[in-house]
Amino acid sequence: MAKEKTYFACQACGAQSPRWLGKCPDCGGWNTMVEEREAAQRGAAAKYVEGATSRPMPIAEIAAEGEHRTSVGIGELDRVLGGGLVKGSVVLVGGDPGIGKSTLMLQAMEELASRGGRVLYVSGEESARQIKLRGERLGASSKGLLVLAENSLEDILSHASDVKPDAMVVDSIQTLFTPTITSAPGSISQVREGAAQLVVFAKKSGTPVFIVGHVTKDGSIAGPRVLEHMVDTVLYFEGDRGHAFRILRAVKNRFGSTNEIGVFEMKGAGLREVENPSEIFLAERLLDVTGSVVVSTVEGTRPIMAELQALVTPTSFGNPRRTAIGVDYGRFTLLLAVLEKRVGLHLMGQDVYVNVVGGLKVEEPSVDLGVISAVASAFKDIPIPSRTVMMGEVGLGGEVRAIGNAEMRVREAAKLGFDRCVMPKSNLKKLPKVKGIELVGVEQVDEALEVILG
Ligand code: TYD
Ligand code: MG
Repeated sequence: MAKEKTYFACQACGAQSPRWLGKCPDCGGWNTMVEEREAAQRGAAAKYVEGATSRPMPIAEIAAEGEHRTSVGIGELDRVLGGGLVKGSVVLVGGDPGIGKSTLMLQAMEELASRGGRVLYVSGEESARQIKLRGERLGASSKGLLVLAENSLEDILSHASDVKPDAMVVDSIQTLFTPTITSAPGSISQVREGAAQLVVFAKKSGTPVFIVGHVTKDGSIAGPRVLEHMVDTVLYFEGDRGHAFRILRAVKNRFGSTNEIGVFEMKGAGLREVENPSEIFLAERLLDVTGSVVVSTVEGTRPIMAELQALVTPTSFGNPRRTAIGVDYGRFTLLLAVLEKRVGLHLMGQDVYVNVVGGLKVEEPSVDLGVISAVASAFKDIPIPSRTVMMGEVGLGGEVRAIGNAEMRVREAAKLGFDRCVMPKSNLKKLPKVKGIELVGVEQVDEALEVILG
């Protein structure tokens, strides 16, 4: 019998090496190399080649079956998918353990089943009874919702071919196991092979498949990251477990835009859609508190207003502290330098903290002016008028630069009852008048501070 060849594969990025290495040369991860067998992999690869019945075709002759989308019935999920579920598509839903992936998937399957569909929810993590218990909390009881507790890839695929579901969920990819590969479930080759077979199944049968994958913060477990290129759509479910808000974000979508987000709130009976996120992010705002300002960010086609808070306290010893949650740290320190140099605020002896309320992350430069205003307000101990919104990118010269989607932001602000918007002067030219809101154009940071702090 031929000697079985082995190699070492990095469990974080999939890099291979003939020898064991302490540090992965590709991703730099330590102690991530695990021995795997080569023969089995060959066998698996050969299967795909045999099945090849395709032939090259002129693009003009390919019948375009107009993209067929099914609504999942959860508006926020449909939105992130690009308007519904596409036939034969494979969607990877990633996120930290405990964030609510299984809950979301079970709710989506229940929605589909309640409208007469037949769906298959496969779990390798929970027993059928545990799924039933979760289902009771969520009110999932439709006849068409089939549950399968299984982690053998071959069995799952054979059941799926029998059932011919309208949609299928595999929760999670890390628990799948196929004996053609000798390494443990959750290892990079198992995860990859499992996903590859599910993709083949989805494409051949036209069944939309959701694959759930856990990602850990340090990425030490074979992550769904290696799968991103194999699937059609990658959704990440984010949020702080300390907060009830969950944000579903598309990072890759072959059938839609990638900058749409879906907002959910985790309740006792599962996830609830949040149709107007601004109201939630502004719900607990205290009026007339120093260091608090309302900023606007655009996610996909949706403007979201959120509260940004700053606190400035004298440094007790050593270096001043700078902490930013929800905004980019690099930009934050840059803006503090602008305040120091262009506005003349002496922040050197002050600790500065900035936080976006509700666990939201705003990465757009349009919040720059908000950060500047909040810090200045906290430092000078003067509150910003509570019905004023700040928006604008700030340059190193202290100039306020134009932002995108200005009209959309202004309309959202007006809708939520704000009466003044301090924004880049250069944006004003192209803006129509919006009823009920005064637009104040500024060119320099100190002009903006003059308007709000006097
Ligand atoms: P879960 O969907 O199991 O997370 P994941 O599959 O991403 O690991 O969700 C787990 C958390 O959600 C758990 O801490 C409890 C909470 N939860 C609720 O608050 N309400 C509910 O109705 C359900 C089902 C879960
Ligand atoms: Mg789960």
